[in-house]
Amino acid sequence: MIRFLLNSVEQLIEDLDPNTTVLDYLRLHLRRTGTKEGCASGDCGACTVVLAEAREDQLRYSAINACITPIGNLHGKQLITVEDLKQGAVLHPVQQAMVDCHGSQCGFCTPGFVMSMFAYRKTHAAPDRESLLEALGGNLCRCTGYRPIVDAGMQMYEADTGDSFDASADAVLNTLKSIDSNTDEVFLSGNHKSYFAPRSLAHLASALLENPEARLVAGATDLALEMTQGLEEIDTLLYPGLVPELQTVRDTGTALEIGAAVTYSQFSSQLCAEYPEMAELIERLGSLQIRNQGTLGGNIGNASPIGDMAPALIAIGADLVLRRGDAVRVVAVEDYFVSYLVTVLQVGEFIERIIVPKARAGEIFKVYKVSKRWEDDISAVCGAFRLRVVDGKVAGVAIAFGGMAEIPKRAHHCEQAMLGQAWAESSITPAMAALAQDFTPISDFRASADYRMQVAGNLLQRLFLETQPGAATVRVRLYA
Ligand SMILES: Cc1cc2nc3c(=O)[nH]c(=O)nc-3n(C[C@H](O)[C@H](O)[C@H](O)COP(=O)(O)OP(=O)(O)OC[C@H]3O[C@@H](n4cnc5c(N)ncnc54)[C@H](O)[C@@H]3O)c2cc1C
Ligand code: FES
Ligand code: FES
Repeated sequence: MIRFLLNSVEQLIEDLDPNTTVLDYLRLHLRRTGTKEGCASGDCGACTVVLAEAREDQLRYSAINACITPIGNLHGKQLITVEDLKQGAVLHPVQQAMVDCHGSQCGFCTPGFVMSMFAYRKTHAAPDRESLLEALGGNLCRCTGYRPIVDAGMQMYEADTGDSFDASADAVLNTLKSIDSNTDEVFLSGNHKSYFAPRSLAHLASALLENPEARLVAGATDLALEMTQGLEEIDTLLYPGLVPELQTVRDTGTALEIGAAVTYSQFSSQLCAEYPEMAELIERLGSLQIRNQGTLGGNIGNASPIGDMAPALIAIGADLVLRRGDAVRVVAVEDYFVSYLVTVLQVGEFIERIIVPKARAGEIFKVYKVSKRWEDDISAVCGAFRLRVVDGKVAGVAIAFGGMAEIPKRAHHCEQAMLGQAWAESSITPAMAALAQDFTPISDFRASADYRMQVAGNLLQRLFLETQPGAATVRVRLYA
């Protein structure tokens, strides 16, 4: 069975279709209809709810999209919905600030905004506009306008009071810890489907070998769309999020080893400390709700040609540790992708962890994402560059692009055109021309083929300009 807290009430569920999303569970099963459905694809934030998890002996709050979260992923967590916020007869300070600032008109988006703001208030001692905007980047409002909502986000701190969640935090933490320490199997079955969350690496590996048709579901920010948008039914779901090794980031001295099921919100500070240029990429990857759920294993595992992490990891020279039963092999990220949505993964094999070498002294690393919208949008083109210049000449270079081919891919011809040449304007033009030998991009609703070719070359030029002495790195908003 799965066990979680719905606010303070423990829920034990054994018999339920595991394809059920948290949103459907709330609205259709419990008739808790405060949480709204807008898009059912993680884009609008109307369904935002908050999870509290026990980590490092503390409760960690995060906003997530209920519409793309399978019910099984709630195991061991506290689920808080908009119905839980009112403090007795009084509105929660977040709700009161929304009223005072006139932050709601039709009200459809309001529960989602309120829950994102509640999570923000629980994770920030004081508000700052920049991080508040980031926290609200995954919530859309089509009628109020954002100014009053952001005002409410700043004003909600004026009521300097605790709330019932602070008062019950110790009790909740203890309950979540006791659920975690229970060794009963975590499973769910219903409607001829099953969900299983093994607690050890060996168990996960054997479960996948014995059930080769099973689908791994980590954050579900990608897979759930097959159910909510594709209307597919997935018979067997295997959740890797309870396996300690897959939940850990390990610093080996020369590399960061990121467990496949670690979320962006959990690994980004360590990765960005090593590669500060990654910060903007990750900040723009989906919304905060998506980053609170999505994992690196899922981003590589889905093999999307426009996934944002692959070009960066290829340029850095990252490796994947793949496991099938007891057998483990290491494959470079650049060799993982075979053709459109096809990878080297064998049946029963999965990504255990991602080995990201630490930044090497004297090397330049840059990654640029170009999309139609700044926040919460998929790349039209994403280019990543690692460069070593010695005595004015290119001594080493690795360039990878997403959105330029059916897989994320190195630009070998472009690299060859640069190697050994002066790092000068005169060598950039032939290198840009060589990109035509590396890629034949397609036209789609994100960008035309011509645009993609042009912008890929322009990103190389941007790299050159940004590496010139005295050049400032400007935070330019690049739109497709
Ligand atoms: C609104 C929205 C915005 C998004 N924006 C972006 C964006 O800007 N950039 C971007 O790159 N992506 C984006 N995504 C896609 C997605 O969020 C990311 O790719 C995310 O990293 C997927 O991780 P996950 O844990 O949610 O994967 P899941 O959905 O759980 O899994 C995705 C796939 O990977 C497989 N898988 C999961 N774990 C493993 C593993 N350990 N080994 C092998 N296979 C595995 C699953 O079986 C599934 O096929 C967006 C998605 C949404 C809904
Ligand atoms: S309903 Fe739109 S993000 Fe969930
Ligand atoms: S108040 Fe109507 S969509 Fe935001």
